[in-house]
Amino acid sequence: MHRNNMPENWQPPAPAWAAKWQGESNFVVAYFGCQSSCIDSLSEWAINALNANHGPLRIEQGTFTDNAGVSNHLYIAYWLASEYQQWWNCAANNQWWRDEQREQEGVGFFREIISMPIERFETLHSTTTPHGISTTAQTLEGPIMEHGYAGAMRDRIPLSATESLQNQFDASVQFQATRNTNNKRVIVTPPENLCVIRSGQNWSECDEEQKRMYLSKVHPTLKKGMAFLQNNPAKSGCLSMRFVDVKDENWQPMEQSFGLGLATDIYAFEEWAKSHATHLAIFERFMEMVMTFGDNLQLKLWHEVSVLPAEECEFEYINCHPETGLLKYC
Ligand code: HEM
Repeated sequence: MHRNNMPENWQPPAPAWAAKWQGESNFVVAYFGCQSSCIDSLSEWAINALNANHGPLRIEQGTFTDNAGVSNHLYIAYWLASEYQQWWNCAANNQWWRDEQREQEGVGFFREIISMPIERFETLHSTTTPHGISTTAQTLEGPIMEHGYAGAMRDRIPLSATESLQNQFDASVQFQATRNTNNKRVIVTPPENLCVIRSGQNWSECDEEQKRMYLSKVHPTLKKGMAFLQNNPAKSGCLSMRFVDVKDENWQPMEQSFGLGLATDIYAFEEWAKSHATHLAIFERFMEMVMTFGDNLQLKLWHEVSVLPAEECEFEYINCHPETGLLKYC
């Protein structure tokens, strides 16, 4: 691992683990969403397509209310990169998305496809329970040294050893996009080094006392932090933030959530995490839990962070409101 930002004689304040893969380890994560409190149309597609040949290694589900106050349903699916393209090339899987009828249904649908080459992403877990992409790994390695200091996230991304991963634009950026004639279908190719974070919280295995403390102290603070990022792209460089409640196969709550954010580059998230009052407050409240429960802390935190490659990422918005994801930047 690369340690450009690690202070000398560094000792992490708490243990943490990172996923480790052997063999093929280039992945794709796809976020399939619909802007509706009714999931029927998307779920009919998902139940068939996501279980087809060359389908994903893992599927998760969630709901959120977006920055325009619209209810959304979301599928999150992780593939081996070599499998994803074969899956998408199959008409039975892509036809529903390509069908012009999607533009006429009065519902917004989106597909955000993110290529995750191994040298461009990292994971971090506060426990040895894997979440997200890490559930596909052979092991969680740790406790690791490369965490707990500003810039640790960047140090864990192998490519940061040789590349700055910085972008020169801010949130006034206009991305190139392809639109169909009725303007209802927009495809955006996000530029290299855009940064995506999925930062998760799992309190499902907390006892009553820990749950009460998490839900009364940490969770409300977290919501404030997410609202700041959602509402302040110019100040933060965070282009899109969704605060998602994780749901099970039947769309029932799982006592888990995650922030799904996209920023101009990794430095934007790094800056917010190390210096903004909202993340500092989240951190402080969390440390109160650590001090109170010590080794018996049952709260599970984790994240995965990717720095996008120049190619093989595609964001498609069909009939979506203009504040959706990257749509407002094109
Ligand atoms: C309950 C919720 C959260 C808690 C308790 C929390 C706490 C922490 C802690 C303890 C670290 C240091 C991790 C380490 O390196 O060991 C950290 C890092 C970080 N957090 Fe959070 N966090 C939460 C949610 C979020 C969310 C939703 C985001 C989404 C933007 C976020 C963004 C970051 C980033 C970008 C870093 C890495 C900083 C770096 O290494 O330079 N956090 N957080």
